[in-house]
Amino acid sequence: MVKFERSARLRALPWYLFAELERKRSEAEAAGREVLDLSIGDPDLPTPPAILDRLAEAARDPRNHQYPTSAGMPAARAAIAAWFETRFGVALDPSREIAILIGSKEGIGHFPLSALDPGDEALVPDPGYPVYAAGTVFAGATPVRYPLREANGFVPDKADLERLATPRTRVVFVNYPNNPTGATAPASFYRELAAWAAGRDLLIASDAAYSEMYYDEPPASALAAPGARERTVEFHSFSKTFNMTGWRIGFAAGAAPLIEALVALKANLDSGAPQAIQLAAVSGLATLAVHGPALRGVYRERRDLALDALRRMGCPIRSPGGAFYLWGRVPTGLSSMQFVTQVFAKTGVLLTPGNGFGEQGEGYFRIALTCPVERLGKALGKLETLAPWKPTHVPSGSR
Ligand SMILES: Cc1ncc(COP(=O)(O)O)c(C=O)c1O
Repeated sequence: MVKFERSARLRALPWYLFAELERKRSEAEAAGREVLDLSIGDPDLPTPPAILDRLAEAARDPRNHQYPTSAGMPAARAAIAAWFETRFGVALDPSREIAILIGSKEGIGHFPLSALDPGDEALVPDPGYPVYAAGTVFAGATPVRYPLREANGFVPDKADLERLATPRTRVVFVNYPNNPTGATAPASFYRELAAWAAGRDLLIASDAAYSEMYYDEPPASALAAPGARERTVEFHSFSKTFNMTGWRIGFAAGAAPLIEALVALKANLDSGAPQAIQLAAVSGLATLAVHGPALRGVYRERRDLALDALRRMGCPIRSPGGAFYLWGRVPTGLSSMQFVTQVFAKTGVLLTPGNGFGEQGEGYFRIALTCPVERLGKALGKLETLAPWKPTHVPSGSR
């Protein structure tokens, strides 16, 4: 047997809580128990038929059977640029300021390898999507976590960023609409962030994977803020907007040197996204005026159902402005993991413990609304039988 140890970089990653949840789920299913899984943010709805028709057509075209380019097809990038200008009011040069990704996660994970050196630091949100820190660690750089506090609407406090930034800081990651908190950020947030980043000569990496998943105002792009354009890369995804998580397709938009560096890295590691998938995904953009409101309507119904039920139970929880998550406080006296474990053992409902997204997530749990309304209702009904929040009184004003 060969002596094998995983690389130090892989070993340096924090414990991956989602593997633990997967284990719990498999064990329960093997024992024949019904699992009501509200832990995974993966849309249950199918990809729209028009996108699948375009995919089938493009798949039959032999021109799409060969290696794609690392940056993506000019036609796909042009379609994205046209949509981006209409949606965000930002005109991008499709040949230099847009690159197609194999899902936004691929770009987020690879970006630090193209922009950071060992010794550099990246400011990453806590709680936050784990890939910002993982990509930074793989690049030999150091993630420095900044808190997203409920009292501040889960938007970074400039005083925290200022306190945590050092001369080695190169980039600040931000993510709105936010996973896991469901928070959105106003355009003024990006203006202030751009001004602060300019003062310290930092790059901004904005994860806008949920830009089309909102309940009120359409979220702004970080690229629209004055002065942001030259120092920002923004990551977008077709995954959530078009129920395409399995097709793996997204894009990066922003400052040409950053996009070109990412493309240079990708040229050495992957060979771009399959062309038929690129063409199918961008064909969806033309349908967004109809598809977007319908999709948001589905999640609004689920959100309202879950919020009402949780509030009836006495759970302190904010109404999310975007993404498809609810982020609530666990009952007093329990850790996130204790709460999730107890709920699962007693009801078969699987929630995500907040500490899986960072230390600041301790004391919270996340519900993903990617589950049909009947099933969601069933899961909430089971939770209600436990009445987990009843014995403790929620301080007024904490909602
Ligand atoms: C905040 C955030 N960014 C990016 C992604 C990655 O999405 P994809 O790689 O499917 O585009 C996810 C997926 O869950 C996410 O939650």
